[in-house]
Amino acid sequence: MSNTSQNTPGNTPQIPPKVGIDRITFATPNCYLSMKDLAIARGIDPNKFTIGIGQSQQAVPPNHQDIVTLGAQAALPLMPYIDSNRLKMVIVGTESGVDASKSSALYIHKLLNLSAWVRCVEVKEACYGGTAALMMARDYVLVHPGAQVLVIAADIARYGVGTPGEVTQGAGAVAMLVSENPRVLQINDDSVVKSAEIQDFWRPVYQSTALARGKFSTEQYIRMFCDVWQRYSAENACNFNDFEAICFHLPYTKMGLKALRAGLEENSGAPHSCDGAPTTDDTRERLLARYQDSTQYSRRIGNIYTGSLYLGLISLLDYDYFRNSCDSSESACDLSSATHSNESPTRPSPLLPGQKIGLFSYGSGAVAEFFSATLVPGWRSALFSNQHIKTLNNRTQLTVSQYEEMFNSAAPYSPQDFVSSQKNRSGARFVLDSIKSQERNYRSI
Ligand code: COA
Repeated sequence: MSNTSQNTPGNTPQIPPKVGIDRITFATPNCYLSMKDLAIARGIDPNKFTIGIGQSQQAVPPNHQDIVTLGAQAALPLMPYIDSNRLKMVIVGTESGVDASKSSALYIHKLLNLSAWVRCVEVKEACYGGTAALMMARDYVLVHPGAQVLVIAADIARYGVGTPGEVTQGAGAVAMLVSENPRVLQINDDSVVKSAEIQDFWRPVYQSTALARGKFSTEQYIRMFCDVWQRYSAENACNFNDFEAICFHLPYTKMGLKALRAGLEENSGAPHSCDGAPTTDDTRERLLARYQDSTQYSRRIGNIYTGSLYLGLISLLDYDYFRNSCDSSESACDLSSATHSNESPTRPSPLLPGQKIGLFSYGSGAVAEFFSATLVPGWRSALFSNQHIKTLNNRTQLTVSQYEEMFNSAAPYSPQDFVSSQKNRSGARFVLDSIKSQERNYRSI
């Protein structure tokens, strides 16, 4: 129990405990598709995918993986830091749930053999669900200092073979352990959240692929960013100069850049510009350079919906780690595969404790939230950077026809029995073995 949060006699104001992300990591399938190969197969100029949309590769899940197995796999490296007496909740944010009723958190809870004395729930609001889960976790720990909450944001983004959204598919899960006195980031109590019922993206329960109004969705994302940013900057009396970096929800890496540019080009008369305080040239360069760091993993994994913002946060921290802390004998420190853009010729300076990172979360439908987190001393030693880059570099590249076969062999959205493939299981610690009589059977391998 924190001694900073005890009730004190009289009217002495309480100091809230520092609460935030103690550990953060991700999992993604061990197969990927090159976006150049996909573009050529679809008769499209590869530059549209790699530059216009900003995706180089896409994670492709074998049919033994779903949000349960990916979520459990993401949480596995956190197990040594979970205290079964302190863990009080497991919250899964997802929009690719495997059941309309039962929480995926229960399957994950069993696969990880967690204590029975926890609350397991799933939350949904498109790509915003991970942030909803994180905020619930933060608020719970504020009220119950000493508690730990496991937050998992897991999704498989499916649009369909040959659809315009195909280039923005992806799969993966982010796991975060939330506690007081976190080792990575303190989440500040400054968020601004906005909700508005709009029809930009949705997925009816009877189908596995999403429906989207692409251009409309892009416009809504930018509008919601401008709305929450303006209110946030007014309520917190701050501007872009106060942020070392801003991470965005990344359905594709060009999307956040569009919103960031809109924010930076205030008063420029650009169609989507946000009004706001003047931004210095230094800030502009810094935010654009950091933005590139935050998009490196998403470029190679694609959209993971609820986890995308947090994959961007991990990428930001890991690329800072690779530049500044990595032992040069480790192959993971080789940044030659990183894609740098003309947007950011600047090499970012090392991140420092106390610096503030802005986070913009957007879930279609739509809910948007802007909040900040502050780096705590020693955060680099709590990262999993080398494991992350090794996971990505060890994946198997698929041909377009292998990808299409895997896409079309996914577990069905119908009552028929299903047995998953034995192929591409290397590295997977949990699998969906089968669906029999409409019940899913998972196991550790
Ligand atoms: N070289 C470089 N860039 C090119 C190009 C080429 N040969 N051809 C096209 N482009 C650029 C376009 O100019 C455009 O850039 P801009 O957006 O900066 O103007 C970009 O590539 C996309 O082209 P566009 O014609 O808009 O693509 P599209 O109509 O096929 O749409 C998606 C593709 C992915 C953008 C769209 O389907 C989409 O937004 N889907 C997902 C929606 C979503 O995820 N919603 C949830 C939001 S959270």
